[in-house]
Amino acid sequence: VNGQTKVTFSNINSDTKISKHIYGHFAEHLGRCIYGGFYVGEDSNIPNTNGVRNDVIKALKELKVPNLRWPGGCFADTYHWKDGVGPKDQRPSMVNKWWGDVVEDNSFGTHDFLNLCEVLEAEPYLAANVGSSTVKEFTEYIQYVTRENGVPMSDYRIENGRKEPWKVKYWGVGNEMWGCGGNMTPEHYANIYRQYATFMTDWTNSDGFYRIASGANVADYNWTEVLMREIPKNLIEGVALHSYSFVEWDKKGSATDFDEAQYFSTMQTALKMDELIQKHTQIMDKYDPEKKVDLIVDEWGGWYQVEEGTNPGFLYQQNTMRDAMIAGTTLNIFNNWAKRVKMANLAQTINVLQAVILTEDEKMLLTPTYHVMKMYNVHHDATLLPISFDAPNYEFNGETLPAVSISASKDKNGAAHISLVNIDSKKENEVVIDVEGLKIKEISGQILKSNNLQDHNTFNNPNNITPSKFKDFKLKKGQLTLTLPPFSVVVIEGK
Ligand code: AHR
Repeated sequence: VNGQTKVTFSNINSDTKISKHIYGHFAEHLGRCIYGGFYVGEDSNIPNTNGVRNDVIKALKELKVPNLRWPGGCFADTYHWKDGVGPKDQRPSMVNKWWGDVVEDNSFGTHDFLNLCEVLEAEPYLAANVGSSTVKEFTEYIQYVTRENGVPMSDYRIENGRKEPWKVKYWGVGNEMWGCGGNMTPEHYANIYRQYATFMTDWTNSDGFYRIASGANVADYNWTEVLMREIPKNLIEGVALHSYSFVEWDKKGSATDFDEAQYFSTMQTALKMDELIQKHTQIMDKYDPEKKVDLIVDEWGGWYQVEEGTNPGFLYQQNTMRDAMIAGTTLNIFNNWAKRVKMANLAQTINVLQAVILTEDEKMLLTPTYHVMKMYNVHHDATLLPISFDAPNYEFNGETLPAVSISASKDKNGAAHISLVNIDSKKENEVVIDVEGLKIKEISGQILKSNNLQDHNTFNNPNNITPSKFKDFKLKKGQLTLTLPPFSVVVIEGK
């Protein structure tokens, strides 16, 4: 055991809510995320509802997906929504130039996506095209989706089979405008953003749209600075941030065949999220001390080499206990920053990057990341219980990282939930939590662990890694003592 870590609650009467939208997902027209992942078409032998796989619907409903971002990513700024509505056999095709240069036939479009969100009871987050679109195309999209009948765009929607408008609150005003969205300077984008955001709403934003500005790439603090300075606060509700975890950007390494050095550097980039949020929010605090604008981490996750023999443009990768470590620690970071971080989207839901689901023809599996997200859904819309502790070190090759990550919340029924991650690849960590003030009588818990960091679920062994009951704790005189095995995720419930 690597010593003992003492944890205390710094404010059990906090009123900060952990927005369930921190647990959001992201689905791009990229590789086999939409086609083959979500959508197999109405005529497929794979059981489906309006073309969307039933096994996927069931798994995502059980995950309680709060929101889903679509159609990109980089794809979003090449997407023309009118190509994806109306009779499927009459839709024009296009080239998906960012992702594999394949032909996109537009058979999965806005109706398919928004109807799917209704089935999943997830809020849609439409990332709309700014980079290669016009204000007219953008505003017509909003009208098509959200207006009651009686205007040209709502009539067009009704003609295409949908009478009632959908409820779409979240709108992304472009994606990665510093890169695939148009290689813009922040000053240029800030102006473009102001223009688009103006025409999205009426005088008072009476529809309550939530406009999200395309945000910084990792530590590009100047991007956030310029946007926060130049965009009037009545035109913006959220500013985004993208940050991925990897070994080295130019030498990503295999998703399953990695050594400890590669694991350690992946965790270094993952844990950087805390510093990124701290520094971006510091800038936001300067221009928005009232915290009117939220930070939206709408792309995060692990990024490795694609699986052997697959299209490099499809970003298909396996998912191991290393990904469970990324998910567990990152979600704890988001929870602990719940005052500013109001939404986040894991990239990406199915068959792309750090997916929660992988599919192969009719087969489907749930990844370790899926299990972590599901174990953590007890934090959705719960009240944050801020904690304080000195994390023990995870040492490797003369470098150190905090080995233990923790966040906690109290749900509406008064139950407390504590999520803990031990990223140390070899050592157990003992944690003692002072739960005196919480008046807990009964403890239960779940753990996700495995024998090797590289372990993962396969189509032949889909349940190799699944959560099990956690028993390694004792509660005595208001002190809860737990032993966390190496590279494990634990979620405790106290009532
Ligand atoms: O998630 C894959 C890609 O990563 C997205 O399309 C883009 O926004 C980011 O660079």
